Amino acid sequence: EKGGYEHFMIKEIFEQPRSIGDCLRGRLNANEGHLHLGGIQDYINKITNADRILIIACGTSWHAGLVAEYIFEEFCRIPVEVEYASEFRYRNPVVGEKDVVIAISQSGETADTLAAIELAKSKGATILGVCNVVGSSIPRATHAGSYTHAGPEIGVASTKAFTAQISVLAMMALMIAHKKGAIKESVYRNLLLELDAIPDKVAKCLDLNPQIEIISEKFKNATNFLYLGRGYNFPVALEGALKLKEISYIHAEGYPAAEMKHGPIALIDENMPVVFIATKDGSYEKIVSNIQEVKARKGQVIAVVTEGDTEIGSMADHIIEVPAAHEALMPLISVVPLQLLSYHIAVMRGCNVDQPRNLAKSVTVE
Ligand code: M6R
Repeated sequence: EKGGYEHFMIKEIFEQPRSIGDCLRGRLNANEGHLHLGGIQDYINKITNADRILIIACGTSWHAGLVAEYIFEEFCRIPVEVEYASEFRYRNPVVGEKDVVIAISQSGETADTLAAIELAKSKGATILGVCNVVGSSIPRATHAGSYTHAGPEIGVASTKAFTAQISVLAMMALMIAHKKGAIKESVYRNLLLELDAIPDKVAKCLDLNPQIEIISEKFKNATNFLYLGRGYNFPVALEGALKLKEISYIHAEGYPAAEMKHGPIALIDENMPVVFIATKDGSYEKIVSNIQEVKARKGQVIAVVTEGDTEIGSMADHIIEVPAAHEALMPLISVVPLQLLSYHIAVMRGCNVDQPRNLAKSVTVE
C-alpha cells in the first residue's frame, strides 16, 4: 500500500506531480486558454461581486489560505481575510450576505472549521469548500466548492493536500479574476501556462531528494530552526516550520523575513539553522540582505533559490536550486524541498513520521 516507499509521507511527497496533475485535469486547458471549475459555476456572479472573501481553515490548510490571500488580492482585487477557524468562531465576527467564505480542509471533518462554516452560514454568507475527502462533512455543509482530487492522504503531516489546495485556489482566483475583468488577458494566459507547467517542475524538485538527504544529515541534531520567507514565500516558511516540528519534534518557527529584525534576530548564533525561501521574485533583493544579516551573526543558512542563482550561492552554507516559476505559483515548488528536509530529519531522529505523537489525521474535537 506504500507502493515500495518506507512511509506514507514520502510516498505522498513523491505523488505530487501526479496529484497536482489530477487536480488540474479537466479544469485547465492552458493552450486553449480555458479554465473552468464546474463546482463553483452556479455562484460565480456572487463571488465576482463579493465585498470580501473570508478564508477559514486550520494548520496546513490555513497556510494554503494565506497563499490564496496573496493570489486573490493580486489578481481579483477583492479584499481577503484569512482566519483560523477556531478564532473566527469564538469571537463575534462581522459577516454578512455579501461575504464569500472559502473553507479549506483536507479531511473535510475538522470540527472548528465545520463550526465556523455553520456560524458564517447563519449570518447569510455564501460558503465554498476546498476539500480533499469526497462526501465528507464540510463539502456537505457548504453551498458549493471544488475538490482537490489529491487522492487519500494517510501521513498525518499534510503534503500533497497542501499543493492540491493551492492549485485549486489558484484556479479559483484566476477564474474569478478573468470573469471580473480584473486581469489582463496576456497575464491570464501566461498564468494558465505557468500552472500547467507546475507538475513537471515539482518532479524536478523531487530529483533533489539525495542532496536534501545530505543536508538533513548535517542538521538532524539541531534543537531549533528558523524559516524565513517574504511575499508568496512567507506562508511557505510557516509551512516548512510546521512540517519540521510536527514530525521531528524540533522547535521551529516560521517568520516573514523582514520581521526578523523585530525580535527573532536575537536568537541567531552559530548553532541556529535558518532556512530561507529566497527564490527570484519581487522581494529577492530584500531577502538577500536578510541572509547577509544572518550570516553576519554566524547563523547556518540553508537557502531555497531559483536555478542558476549565483548571488546567494556565495553567502549561504547550503543551497537548494528549484526551477523558476511565476512568483504567485512558487509556493507549489518551494515547499517541496522543505517537505523532504523535514521528512529526512525526522527519519534520522527515529521518529514515527506517519503518526507523530499527540497528533491525529483529522481533528474532530474542538
Ligand atoms: O483536514 P484539515 O485540512 O482540515 O486539517 C487541518 C489541520 O489539522 C492539518 O492541516 C494539520 O495541521 C496537519 N497535521 C499539518 O500537517
